[in-house]
Amino acid sequence: MALVTTTEMFKKAYNGGYAVGAFNVNNMEIVQGITEAAGELKSPVVLQVSRGARAYANHTYLVKMVEAAVIENPDIPIALHLDHGPDFETCKSCIDGGFTSVMIDASSKPFDENVEITKKVVDYAHAHGVVVEAELGTLAGVEDEVAVEEGCASYTRPEEVQEFVERTGCDSLAICIGTSHGAYKFTPEQCTRNEEGILVPPPLRFDVLEECIKRLPGFPIVLHGSSSVPQDFVKTVNTYGGNMPDAIGIPEEQLREAAKLAVCKINIDSDIRLAITASIRKHFAEHPADFDPRTYLKPARQAVKEMVAHKIVNVLGSDGKA
Ligand code: G3H
Ligand code: 13P
Ligand code: ZN
Repeated sequence: MALVTTTEMFKKAYNGGYAVGAFNVNNMEIVQGITEAAGELKSPVVLQVSRGARAYANHTYLVKMVEAAVIENPDIPIALHLDHGPDFETCKSCIDGGFTSVMIDASSKPFDENVEITKKVVDYAHAHGVVVEAELGTLAGVEDEVAVEEGCASYTRPEEVQEFVERTGCDSLAICIGTSHGAYKFTPEQCTRNEEGILVPPPLRFDVLEECIKRLPGFPIVLHGSSSVPQDFVKTVNTYGGNMPDAIGIPEEQLREAAKLAVCKINIDSDIRLAITASIRKHFAEHPADFDPRTYLKPARQAVKEMVAHKIVNVLGSDGKA
């Protein structure tokens, strides 16, 4: 199977009550860990590349690594997606350069400007057989390399979504219902504590999601900022010399609920970073003499694979849906 767009994937996910995982890729081990898990579990998957990833690893290397993963995993649909495309030029460069899907993120712009930029990308993308994700609302955290303060974040306004989709012709829409980027999604003050003293974050705004679904029946919704920040990774990082106090993410059960509704794509990056960092910190603490990168990158890749497999089965519900 060649690289695919997300059109079929999302249609099946919408009707099947599950979501496709969109995992950020920055190097070979990440591409391999994700696609080995998806391949073994017969799951569709989106591999997404941010502007930062292109700056770090280079567009050509990323595309060729993803193409290699397609060859190695011929039985599953894989889409190559630009994450948080900041402008038309970046989107065009990815459309021309082998991507099957792009996100134009003009969510920080006023509504009409967001419509205008998104439509320009949609027109170009559709003429080249590529699909487009757009965004309404502003997530807290680092978005498009711009840090959005918690107080400046805003939920998507359901009354805007229908007009936005009609005017732009976008293929999927990222909305803000309380997720955010990074490993610190909530301050301790925003949380309560359970009987064991563990932080419990405020619930996602399912009311906003349901209002959006009502206005866009059948239309695929995307959730960014959907890492769960597994506490065993955080504990390992902190045990072996790291310093990530109060790192906290989105509870997996809530993402599973969203995946049963119109949410067809769930974005995960921070959990990959945590899996790798926890694995490498532990490895160096236990094997201080190792200096062959393969000795610590191999278990790190395995940690990514196991984390992604867990998401596919327990959060996304996309296993066996290839
Ligand atoms: O949405 C942000 C993603 O986690 C990508 O992050 O721009 O540091 O690659 P990045
Ligand atoms: P996380 O930081 O929660 O992994 O979100 C990733 C993301 O939304 C990429 O676009
Ligand atoms: Zn994002």
